[in-house]
This record gives sequence, structure tokens and C-alpha cells, in this order.
Amino acid sequence: MRLSQISTSTVLWLGLAQALPKTSSQASKPSCRFAAEYTQEQILRDPTDFLDDMLYWEGKFHQNNVSYNADNGMSYDGTSIDWALQIMLYAHAVSGSSQAARFLSPDHPSAAPKIAVSIMETKLQTYQKFNETYPGFGGFLPWFTSSTQDITPTWDWVNRVPALDNGELLWAVYGFIQALESTGNKSYLGLAQKWQTWMDYTKTTAAKIFYLGDGQVCAVIDLKDQSLPVDHPDQSYTCEGSGRLNDPYEGELFTFWLQFFADLPDSDKKALWETKRPQLVSVDYHVGNVGPITVQKGYWFSSHETWKVMEMPYYDIDIVRRVYENAERVRTCNSVVTKNPGMFASVNNITDPSTGDVVGYISNAGIPSISNQTVQELDVITPYSVFPTILFNKSVGLAWWRNMVVARKMQNIYGSTESTRVDGTGVSALLTWDSKVTTVSALLGGVTDFVRQKMKADKIYDEFVDIIETEYSRVFKNLKGEDVAFCLPWDTVPDTGLADFALCQ
Ligand SMILES: *[C@@H]1O[C@H](CO)[C@@H](O)[C@H](O)[C@H]1NC(C)=O
Ligand SMILES: *[C@@H]1O[C@H](CO)[C@@H](O)[C@H](O)[C@H]1NC(C)=O
Ligand SMILES: *[C@@H]1O[C@H](CO)[C@@H](O)[C@H](O)[C@H]1NC(C)=O
Ligand SMILES: *[C@@H]1O[C@H](CO)[C@@H](O)[C@H](O)[C@H]1NC(C)=O
Ligand SMILES: *[C@@H]1O[C@H](CO)[C@@H](O)[C@H](O)[C@H]1NC(C)=O
Ligand SMILES: *[C@@H]1O[C@H](CO)[C@@H](O)[C@H](O)[C@H]1NC(C)=O
Repeated sequence: MRLSQISTSTVLWLGLAQALPKTSSQASKPSCRFAAEYTQEQILRDPTDFLDDMLYWEGKFHQNNVSYNADNGMSYDGTSIDWALQIMLYAHAVSGSSQAARFLSPDHPSAAPKIAVSIMETKLQTYQKFNETYPGFGGFLPWFTSSTQDITPTWDWVNRVPALDNGELLWAVYGFIQALESTGNKSYLGLAQKWQTWMDYTKTTAAKIFYLGDGQVCAVIDLKDQSLPVDHPDQSYTCEGSGRLNDPYEGELFTFWLQFFADLPDSDKKALWETKRPQLVSVDYHVGNVGPITVQKGYWFSSHETWKVMEMPYYDIDIVRRVYENAERVRTCNSVVTKNPGMFASVNNITDPSTGDVVGYISNAGIPSISNQTVQELDVITPYSVFPTILFNKSVGLAWWRNMVVARKMQNIYGSTESTRVDGTGVSALLTWDSKVTTVSALLGGVTDFVRQKMKADKIYDEFVDIIETEYSRVFKNLKGEDVAFCLPWDTVPDTGLADFALCQ
């Protein structure tokens, strides 16, 4: 669940691209419309080639002036999850992942670590400069504009800062530092140390800014004056409205930042989890002939709600892994019983062909029968909805991804397109980090391996396991439906005569 509505997630309008993809030697260049060249059976037998083609094309998105600004190292859309996505990707690149290299630098895979390191050096300077100019944020970030050299808060985030998004960012940085250290390459240690210093600073300000006491964490904070230092007598922080960070989804990443690093008394740490407890709920899915299958109740059950498992090692805990595997049984089979050719996740609505503008953002997309929020809009599907499935079964996840991108207009010269209507009457002609790189991150396994290693070194790993084990085992006792197989796509997006993008046919 994203507490703050994504309002500025436009990275690039298809057709208005300033930069064209770098050309590559024809021999190794897969076809832009590669998805239709593979059958579902081929992917299930061995997804390697399909994956290779997919990473190649999704990687075309990663270019200066397309998805990021090389002058300041920042991703373009200012939406927050993207801060984390970019860094998660670079963690794999510095660690030598051939898949990350296929995405970042297919023509010169060996250059990938250097590309990542160089952007992360620039990005850190941008963060440091931001902290100097706006010390009131205490090292945290609001949503910002990144088209200029120095980033500034977007107009609607002046003197405001969100907790959830910073939790996502911080654990990505945590993983990145470990990735650098794990290479054993001495030339990376300086950069690791500098990022550590930046990250450590947020540990000293986290509670002062976001913690209200009694286990209450503010979802969004209003700053008195972003230009004044945290400790300045005229500086103050106020919880915005009644919004609290207490969700058992992505918001939990920030809860753990406070738990481990904010130096709270034990009684407050305990209160953090007591406050969150009512939201962690068990529910059985049962629709048509599928179920019962026990899952964690969703807010909307959008795939987006699964983000936390890509950053912290939740799947080390047996009960969590089993509950979340059930979620993918439900997500895939629900689409089959409801005759949906794809799956749901919070995403941008389609483009209005008469204006060329995206109509809106659909947050409330998921599975109403197992969610807290039962009023949902279920007309737009998105390829990135497969990312939690991929974490359990790459082939099945990619089969669903293929089933969505074979639809009209769903591939373009920067890889997959944001979203399509289920009825095939329109697509969102938009590219975002969220809808593209979340899937790539899942294919790389998130950053949990790096984060686990550093948590062990920081001696916080056992406490993490204890807390999560306790919270999940008190709610989930006898899981139903663990014998159900993941379902494969059955329906297709109808061809209503939309023309594919001219440069990708
Ligand atoms: C990127 O955009 C900036 C600002 O519009 C422009 O000055 C620069 O030449 C562009 N760079 C590339 C490589 O297209
Ligand atoms: C260490 O990193 C530097 C800078 O990227 C690179 O030139 C060098 O080849 C790396 N050394 C090893 C052993 O990977
Ligand atoms: C951020 O700015 C504050 C106040 O000016 C300073 O004390 C702190 O060291 C800075 N943090 C980093 C990581 O540069
Ligand atoms: C999405 O677009 C459809 C028209 O294609 C419209 O009916 C619906 O209200 C829109 N929803 C949002 C949240 O923008
Ligand atoms: C949704 O969550 C809130 C907060 O925990 C709770 O009060 C409410 O009863 C829930 N509603 C449903 C339908 O689950
Ligand atoms: C993924 O699912 C497919 C199809 O159900 C199955 O054949 C395969 O063994 C599964 N792979 C894993 C790693 O579970």
C-alpha cells in the first residue's frame, strides 16, 4: 500500500522521446516484439533466452535523459519507490551480475560495474548537496524534481516528508553498501564508506522527525522550515493529520529502521509492533472452484504491497514464505477464474488518445474479496504485477508477463509498456521505473542477500527473524491451500485493432 498517491510518475511519454536507444550490433539484437516469438510452453521449459531478450529491451529504458539524469545521478520520475529501484539495480551491477549487465550495458557487459559506481558517486553528491541546502529533512528525501542539477522538493512536498518511501530507500542503500564491500575491490571502499556516512546520519534524525511516541509513527511530517537544521530552536516537526505508518506492507521497512537504528527505549520498540498488530490479518480466498487458500489480508491486494520482501530477508522465515507463496497461488488463479488475461497492481490508467494524457492513477486494483479496501477499479492490468510471482517461480511469472506484453502496443523501444485495459481498448503510453524495473529487480532476487549479510554483521538479523516470526505465527496457524499449483494464463487481451508503436513492430 502506498500511503501517498503517486502524482508525478511520468518519466517519458512514448513518442516524445529525446534520446533513441543506443544501437547495438545486429547479431545480438533481439527483435523489439520478441514476446510473440516465444510460446508459453517454451518459457516454462526454459526461460533463459526469453529473459535475455527481456533484459536487453527493458535496459533501453536506462539511458541519460530517458529514465535518469546523468548530471545528478537521479532517476527521473521523482516517485519514491524509484529511488530504491535504481539503487537495487546498481547493487547487482557492482556485484558482477550478468543479468544486471545485460540490462545496463549489453554491448559491453564488463563496463556495468563502473557505470553503476559512477552514477552512485554522482547521486551521493546530489544527496549531500540537498542536505546542505535543506537540512530540515535530516537526510531524508521528499519527492523532488530531478531535471535540474540540484534537486528540489516538488511544489507539493515543500516542507513535507514521507516515512514509507524513505524506508524503501534506506534499505536499498544498506544493500548497496554491502554489495560494494562484498566485491572485495578496494577501490569501492571509499564510496561504500561515504554512503554509510550518509545513511548513518538518518539514524540520528529518524526518531526526532517521524516518531510521535507510544509506538506511533507519522506517515507524513510537516516541517516548520526545510532550510533550518534539525536542532535549530525554530525548527519543528508535526504529524500531518491522522495518517500513521502502521501497515504490514511496505511501510514496515521504515518501522524496522526505527527499531534497529533510532536508539528507542525497549518499551517504545515493543509499542511499534503492538500498534501495527491489528492490521496483520489472515483471510481465506475462495472464488469459483479455487480455495480455500489462506493469505495475508491485502489493503487492495495489489502486487505493490509485496515490496518489503524484495528488500529485507523475510523469506528466511518459513511461515512468511509459506503465506506469501499462497498469495501467488491466489493471484495467478484468481485471474484464471475471473477470465483476466493479466494481474492487478496499482498503476497509471490508460492514455486518453484525444489528449495524449494519462487519465489518472489507479491505486485500488487488486483482489477485493481478500482485501481491507473492497471498492476497486479492475479494468487495467500491468506487466509488473508479476514481480511477486517471479520471486517464487520465474517461469510462471514470465509466462504471465508475456501474456500481457504480447497485447497490442504493450512493447515499445524501451521494453514493456506501463499498462493495458483488460478489454484491449487502450494502453498507458508511459514508462516508469515502477512498472518496468520492479520486475527486473525481482528477477535479480531483490537485494535481500546483500541486506541479510549486512544485518548479520550489524548483529540485528536474529532480532529481525524473532520479531517477524512472532508477529506472523500469532496470526497464521493452519494454512489452507498449500497444495494448489500456481495457475497459468488462459485468456488473452482482445485485439481491438490498436496499432503497435511504429518503431516496435
Ligand atoms: C539531455 O538533456 C539535456 C537538457 O535537455 C540536454 O542539454 C542534453 O544535451 C541531453 N543529453 C543527451 C545525451 O541527449
Ligand atoms: C576494481 O574496480 C576498479 C574500478 O571500477 C576496476 O577498474 C578494477 O578492474 C576492479 N578490480 C577488480 C579486481 O575487479
Ligand atoms: C547534513 O546536514 C547536517 C546539518 O547541516 C550535518 O550536520 C550533517 O553532517 C549532514 N549529513 C551528511 C550525511 O552530510
Ligand atoms: C480510468 O480510465 C477510464 C476510462 O478509460 C475511466 O472510466 C476511469 O474512471 C479511470 N480511472 C481513473 C482512476 O483514472
Ligand atoms: C480495514 O482496516 C482497518 C484498520 O485496521 C479496520 O478498522 C477495518 O475494520 C478494516 N476493514 C476491513 C473490511 O477489513
Ligand atoms: C514453476 O512452475 C512450473 C509450472 O507449474 C513447474 O513445472 C516448475 O517446477 C516450477 N518451478 C519451481 C522452481 O518451482
